[in-house]
Amino acid sequence: MESPFDHVTLAVDGKPGDARSLSLPVERGTLGNPCIDIARLPKETGCFTYDPGFTATAACKSAITYIDGDAGVLLYRGYPIEQLAKQSSFLEVAYLLMHGELPSGDAFHAFENEVTHHTMMHEAFRTFLYGFRHDAHPMAMLVGMLGSMASFYHNTLDLEDPEQRRLAAVRLIAKVPTIAAGCYRYSIGWPLRYPKNNLEYVDRFLHMMFEVPSEPLAMKPVAARALDLLFILHADHEQNASTSTVRLVGSTGSNPYACVAAGVAALWGPAHGGANEAVLKMLADIGKPGNVQSAIDRAKDKESGFRLMGFGHRVYKNFDPRAKIIREMTHQVLGELGVNDPLLEVALTLEEAALKDDYFIQRKLYPNVDFYSGIIYKALGIPTEMFTVMFAIARTAGWMAHWLEQQMDPEARIGRPRQIYTGYGERGYVGIGDR
Ligand code: CMC
Repeated sequence: MESPFDHVTLAVDGKPGDARSLSLPVERGTLGNPCIDIARLPKETGCFTYDPGFTATAACKSAITYIDGDAGVLLYRGYPIEQLAKQSSFLEVAYLLMHGELPSGDAFHAFENEVTHHTMMHEAFRTFLYGFRHDAHPMAMLVGMLGSMASFYHNTLDLEDPEQRRLAAVRLIAKVPTIAAGCYRYSIGWPLRYPKNNLEYVDRFLHMMFEVPSEPLAMKPVAARALDLLFILHADHEQNASTSTVRLVGSTGSNPYACVAAGVAALWGPAHGGANEAVLKMLADIGKPGNVQSAIDRAKDKESGFRLMGFGHRVYKNFDPRAKIIREMTHQVLGELGVNDPLLEVALTLEEAALKDDYFIQRKLYPNVDFYSGIIYKALGIPTEMFTVMFAIARTAGWMAHWLEQQMDPEARIGRPRQIYTGYGERGYVGIGDR
């Protein structure tokens, strides 16, 4: 909605006779809500602002992704997610996020070729991978493996050089699937697979995951189509917790591989990317449609500490456009693969019941992107612990687009939130014998 004002006035009430007012400029992006620029506030009033969870605070300017949570709109570089989901591919979306424009045919082939030729892991990564316990969670392994990438490329990375920054992004987009598949195969005791350059990005990943030395892999084309779609839908989501983490770490001038390792750690939590794993566990616990109502009652009871996983979103307060697309794909995948998953029936019953329930209606809680994605992953044979790793593969494209944007932003400064201190006032040290 167009806003008529370009300044807001803040009245500062001090002692009698000490009232002042401060005029704060209002900034506008090309789309979205106006933003009050409060950068002068501490200097001119001695005050900070308090905004736990950053629900009202923009930390940067960005031209990558736009979300209108009330209207259920998601645009990557201006293109609606529905159009990209139907017509594009994950690798093309990765290019779009990084470069700002859709590639020409030649530019895309050059990008695809470059990504394809950076998919191999350094052999020393194997030794590193084999150091994990066999039952380590793959997200823990991914954090460690990506952190270790910083040690492989640190000395050859000049952050002042745009070409080296771009190459770091390409390396990450290329290698994360190889590392992810390696984590999975190690956990089940299978030999690691090298990436096959004759395959496309998603097919190559499926081969690295599932091909065994003894026989060729036969997967129906719908598997790669569905995974590519999920990767497109997960590729970026503006300043979510993991992307903000990548930016916060990036703001200190850290190595980009370390930034992405931090992003993966932030993604892991069940309130963020870990929700897809939590949804499947929840649906399995519910077990059958007849148990849905008691799960809903438990989610409404604040004492229970239980929430419906895959429901609700910080920004979408009407519907999550990604969930709509995934819901359709879920039926298609299960149909074409001939999978009869009883959890789908539980999910459909749960969705229907929650959408009719006043608690969820009043709080505008709708199924989010993670509600159905786990059912697709499960149908593709991807184990539950790997679901958030799938999300991380896709989000690497968004993280790197944001990191690249931040490195060129003349207004970017080290991220340093303030606090309201609630601890003791100054007090004297007491020796251990006197306590
Ligand atoms: N089940 C039951 N109640 C809920 C749920 C839920 N899933 N989500 C929010 N609420 C209630 C919450 O208790 C609160 O109620 P009240 O106003 O009575 O105190 C109200 O709705 C607002 O919740 P909030 O926690 O203030 O909302 P938030 O914007 O801080 O949190 C969220 C957003 C996604 C963390 C939250 O909805 C949630 O925990 N959902 C379940 C986890 C999930 O599916 N996460 C994936 C998010 S999408 C993918 C991604 O970001 O990675």
